[in-house]
Amino acid sequence: MSSSTVQPAAPTDRILIFDTTLRDGEQSPGASLNLDEKLAIAKQLARLRVDIIEAGFPFASPGDFEAVQRIAEAVGTVEGPTICGLARASKADIKAAADAIAPAAKGRIHTFIASSDIHLEYKLKKTRAEVLEIAPEMVAYAKSFTDDVEFSPEDAGRSDPEFLYPLLEAAIAAGATTVNIPDTVGFTTPAEFGKLIRGIKENVSNIDQAIISVHGHNDLGLAVANFLSAVENGARQLECTINGIGERAGNAALEELVMAMYVRRSYYNPFLGRPAESEAPLTNINTQEIYKTSRLVSNLTGMSVQPNKAIVGSNAFAHESGIHQDGMLKNKRTYEIMDAETIGLTTNRITLGKLSGRNAFRSRLTELGYELGDEELNKAFVRFKDVADKKRDVTDRDLEAIVQDETRQAEELYKLLHVQVSSGTNAKPTATVVLQTVDGVELMDAAIGTGPVDAVYRAINRVVKVPNELIEFSVKSVTEGIDAMGEVTIRVRHEDRIFSGHSANTDIIVASTQAYLNALNRLSTMIQGGQRPLHPQREAAAREAASV
Ligand code: KIV
Ligand code: ZN
Repeated sequence: MSSSTVQPAAPTDRILIFDTTLRDGEQSPGASLNLDEKLAIAKQLARLRVDIIEAGFPFASPGDFEAVQRIAEAVGTVEGPTICGLARASKADIKAAADAIAPAAKGRIHTFIASSDIHLEYKLKKTRAEVLEIAPEMVAYAKSFTDDVEFSPEDAGRSDPEFLYPLLEAAIAAGATTVNIPDTVGFTTPAEFGKLIRGIKENVSNIDQAIISVHGHNDLGLAVANFLSAVENGARQLECTINGIGERAGNAALEELVMAMYVRRSYYNPFLGRPAESEAPLTNINTQEIYKTSRLVSNLTGMSVQPNKAIVGSNAFAHESGIHQDGMLKNKRTYEIMDAETIGLTTNRITLGKLSGRNAFRSRLTELGYELGDEELNKAFVRFKDVADKKRDVTDRDLEAIVQDETRQAEELYKLLHVQVSSGTNAKPTATVVLQTVDGVELMDAAIGTGPVDAVYRAINRVVKVPNELIEFSVKSVTEGIDAMGEVTIRVRHEDRIFSGHSANTDIIVASTQAYLNALNRLSTMIQGGQRPLHPQREAAAREAASV
């Protein structure tokens, strides 16, 4: 296909939402997801109607490859989103991405190579001339598998625009239909980023043959502002993640971008050549699915959402102060710029009760984005009945907490059979635990600690014997009320990797024990598997190893 006949891959009269929760989001320390969790999130992203799902980095490991392939099969339908695989600018990476996305009706390969002088000198150890040669060569190679190829010059935010222009021009000439401009280290300011996009629009001669995309990190808290400035200057695809998760301080948050363009559409409309008063949505997102998606991602990754987080934080629509409440009662618009219902947050929170049956339980879970296999469903249903016996009202939040315990399990190398603690005033907190290995062997130990949870963790460590450092322990109640379940999230570090664990129970000692065990099971599974997935950006492309 000659580059002059290449058409942009998608309409540019609206903003395309490229979700990278499953790729960049999953690069967040401790956020790693198993195959079922990735599938559940991908299905929910399809319900949210994102345009493109970056499903992973297939070359990273056989597990990553399989996840992208399964998502391509299950979610990459004709009406569904485009499924994208990330690849460094090397043939081996690109081939893996091509094979993994092959089952999708619409598949995209996203290939990248660094373009800033600092990355060239210290990471790639290549000259600008070499990068200028590799990029189009690899885009053309990707193009031999699919028409839909995206090219990113990594660290574009700190790259010399005079080098970016010919690089992008060469990538487009070789067949890239999207050129993505990453602010990899979250360094730029909105005015600078907007100027960079404008410069690309004005100086890359064939830019009309590609969509300009942006990707950015939130190190200075500017990612969303940078993207909106990019939209004003010609960007038509935004790469973002649910809840803004991602490397370091995260990526631009999908929900913030979408709702900014929804609430302020009369401001943004003219930048897309529309009359200010146009009611046509600027994105294809079904905003009603935002809250549910946020909860699902938070639950499955174990990355909690801060209460004051814009759009999806628990305080985002809470009006505590007397003055606000008075104004709200007279007219909601005094203090509220959007309705909670727009993001799918309803006040109707009581969903199931003690007498609810398995079908009602399963269908509510499906609505919340969880699809459980029969065995998981049975286990979750038993837990639900148990909670319903102890709690009068079982809300969606309770259901999420219950089901999360069933889905967010690594292989249960150690299963909790028994935990017992004794603590109190003037007592030595003591714990006894009994764990069962996969081979059915029961292991018991006991320990004294500074408190009951410390005692439990010490006892578990004596059994599991995997060195780790507890770096985060948080407990919060799932809902209001004295009978609420306690939700425990923990993060442990082993060497330079972080593993999270999560559990909920009406007994917080049990929740704390199970959360720790979940993290240790993930950690032990990784140690047993012996394989560590490649990080796409930290390891320079193995171009030499590939048959270029
Ligand atoms: O931040 C970044 O530059 C990336 C690229 C791989 C697009 O994630
Ligand atoms: Zn990134």
